[in-house]
Amino acid sequence: MTKQIDPCTLVLFGASGNLSRIKLMPGLFRLDAAGRLPDHMVILSVGRGEVSLDAWRADVKSMLDAKFKNGYDQAVFERFIARNHYHANPPTDPDAFNKMKAKLSDEKTFPQNLAYFLSVRPTDFAPVVEQLSAVGLLDESKYWRRVLIEKPFGTDLPSAQDLQARLTKHLKESQIYRIDHYLGKSAVQNIMLTRFTNAILEPLWNNAHIDHVQITNNETLGVGDRTTFYDATGALRDMFQSHLLQTLALVAMEQPKDLTPESIRTEKIKLLESIRPIDVSNLNKQAFRAQYAAGRVCASDGHGENVAGYLEELKRDGVESSNTETYAAVKLFIDNPRWKGVPFYVRTAKRMHEGNTAIAIRFKKAPMLLKDDQHHNWLIINIQPRECIKMEFESKIPGLDIATRTLSVDGPQRQKDDETIDSYETLMLNLMEGDPSQYLHINEVEAQWRLVDPIVKAWAQDKGPVHQYRAGNRDPEESKVIFESEDQFWRYSIELGGDQH
Ligand SMILES: NC(=O)c1ccc[n+]([C@@H]2O[C@H](COP(=O)([O-])OP(=O)(O)OC[C@H]3O[C@@H](n4cnc5c(N)ncnc54)[C@H](OP(=O)(O)O)[C@@H]3O)[C@@H](O)[C@H]2O)c1
Repeated sequence: MTKQIDPCTLVLFGASGNLSRIKLMPGLFRLDAAGRLPDHMVILSVGRGEVSLDAWRADVKSMLDAKFKNGYDQAVFERFIARNHYHANPPTDPDAFNKMKAKLSDEKTFPQNLAYFLSVRPTDFAPVVEQLSAVGLLDESKYWRRVLIEKPFGTDLPSAQDLQARLTKHLKESQIYRIDHYLGKSAVQNIMLTRFTNAILEPLWNNAHIDHVQITNNETLGVGDRTTFYDATGALRDMFQSHLLQTLALVAMEQPKDLTPESIRTEKIKLLESIRPIDVSNLNKQAFRAQYAAGRVCASDGHGENVAGYLEELKRDGVESSNTETYAAVKLFIDNPRWKGVPFYVRTAKRMHEGNTAIAIRFKKAPMLLKDDQHHNWLIINIQPRECIKMEFESKIPGLDIATRTLSVDGPQRQKDDETIDSYETLMLNLMEGDPSQYLHINEVEAQWRLVDPIVKAWAQDKGPVHQYRAGNRDPEESKVIFESEDQFWRYSIELGGDQH
């Protein structure tokens, strides 16, 4: 469904930054090439430094050249580059935002519906909004004004609430678009559609039939040169707090009454708020953390590569010790009738043997067991690297004996010639369309921090040595402490036979 986009100006703060160079500018270009930007759509990039219009357009061209190494359509380029403008907003100039307002008041050049994309440091989110408000650039009496807030939205519940309080002095909830770029991924959006557009799944989607659910995001990469950022953040806050809990919400929520943003968010909020709070007095049975030690991983060229451990990488950058986790596995329960008693194991780790994002659902034992260790049925929704849905069944081995083997029905979600859309393209389009369904409501953000904060706090207070796992290996054996039953195990690669630990 193509939605109508009003003529608008996208005001891009931080347009010279890394995110903009790699994702935002190329994404906007691709939207233009796909005919998804209205004729009257202009991009005003805002930065601290003085840059001439020609120099800025040359810089935008360099971003596109770097991204599209095989070239691009010249006619689209001419159209796209003409949309691009630049405004310098030096932090030392007290009048900077008034000057920006004066520039934007040129209605012939700048459509007056304004979407602000704050691709700046999180400490700058509230100050930018306050200054926009002070000069009247958030006033919606004649045109809409929307503000996209990059992640993270706070670093814990109190800081998220502080940020929210500062923003809502100037903005209504309907004007705030809090990003979690996972929600822009087609494969993540497919979770909800797969559940609710197939009659065969819904009857099974409950505690009568499902044994447990695993939500996994594993990477082969380490922290790279982001040691300072990562050490202050950790796996729980980096991946679990938003991306993985949002994935869980889509897997477990009730069916929304329709596909409007309000209905979808209502069900996600209800679900997130019904996750049972972690009992920190029993944390060791519900959550496990670890750090990668030196080891050997599979590099992108397919060859093995020796890599340093996390603590060694920190030492190299002058940090003597740390108990920040690079591996986190948490067991969650949802206190509602559908999910009572079903554990959700949510894990994320760096430097694992494989990179994989997946939802793996194990069904309960079959009514007829031909052998004690008969394979359970699994449904796997794989998000990366391969988008597919896979179901595993038992099936008779042809021959004289009564015996079964596991049959795997594998449906690639992505087919030849399907569009590949980056999540930022979807999300920027949604911002201009005024569709917040793939953005986070403040109640979701708060529910997520409420769940995660006690674990982060308990782990920060526990100064004992953190378990070390060898880079390139599978989950540490000790992580199994969170399993509810002895026959549960971490599910790996979507290939059959790659599943057992
Ligand atoms: N959703 C995600 O997965 C994801 C991924 C990456 C980043 N992010 C978020 O996106 C935002 C931008 O990330 P980025 O990697 O593009 O950041 P970046 O490259 O460090 O900087 C973005 C812009 O901020 C301005 N800036 C940098 N240092 C500044 C300073 N000391 N004072 C004032 N302005 C400064 C610069 O613009 P000027 O010099 O032109 O003013 C720069 O272009 C951040 O909030 C980040 O957390 C999110």
